[in-house]
Amino acid sequence: MSYDSAMEALSNDALKLIKNNQVIGLGSGRAATVLVKSLGKLIKLKNYNIKGIPTSLQIKQVAEKAGIQLLESDQVNHIDIVFDGADQIDSQKFVIKGGGGALLRENILFSLAKKVVVMADKTKFVKNFTRSVPIEIHPLARSSVMYSIKKLGGESKIRFVDRGYPMFTENGNIILDCDFGTIKNPKELTQKIKQTTGVLESGIFLRKPDIIYKAKTNGKFEII
Ligand code: A5P
Repeated sequence: MSYDSAMEALSNDALKLIKNNQVIGLGSGRAATVLVKSLGKLIKLKNYNIKGIPTSLQIKQVAEKAGIQLLESDQVNHIDIVFDGADQIDSQKFVIKGGGGALLRENILFSLAKKVVVMADKTKFVKNFTRSVPIEIHPLARSSVMYSIKKLGGESKIRFVDRGYPMFTENGNIILDCDFGTIKNPKELTQKIKQTTGVLESGIFLRKPDIIYKAKTNGKFEII
């Protein structure tokens, strides 16, 4: 069974959480893409009045194609549910996000949402975080933040697109991918990262998901 069909089975279950007239946050990436396509079908089928809030141009295009009416996050002070993927999920249910660079907008929606739903395949689940943490920073704070990350025990690398060009986020910032080895205390590390001047967002989100969908093999999934 392909990644998309496994995610589709899981998305169709997750979409049962939606009611008419809700405002829904649309995460970014592959899992969110599958869910947004299914959401578009559900809205047409039920003739729902749903507004979606995209976290990136990537998912905005998917949502437009699916015929979903859109708002921006600065137009609302709460949203009902956000659906998103994750790069890693630890045993305390913290998530690392930002593999696609949309972490700042994703975390704004997590903080606005009454309910946060994260969907990921089983490869993303770990006891303790082991992958690098994406950190969005202001470009002018590049050297100072890299120095601060080093003092926190991390090795940071600027994320590049190609031929030495840094990747700029949709907010005009750059991303540092920071290797801290195995992370046993994600909350404390994140609080320290976020105290650093020039840091706009950390890929470890302090708001934990309310519901986690874990895709297994053959279209089966587990709800955590
Ligand atoms: C975007 O910046 C990320 O936070 C994604 O949500 C995350 O990388 C998960 O993406 P996939 O669903 O494509 O694995």
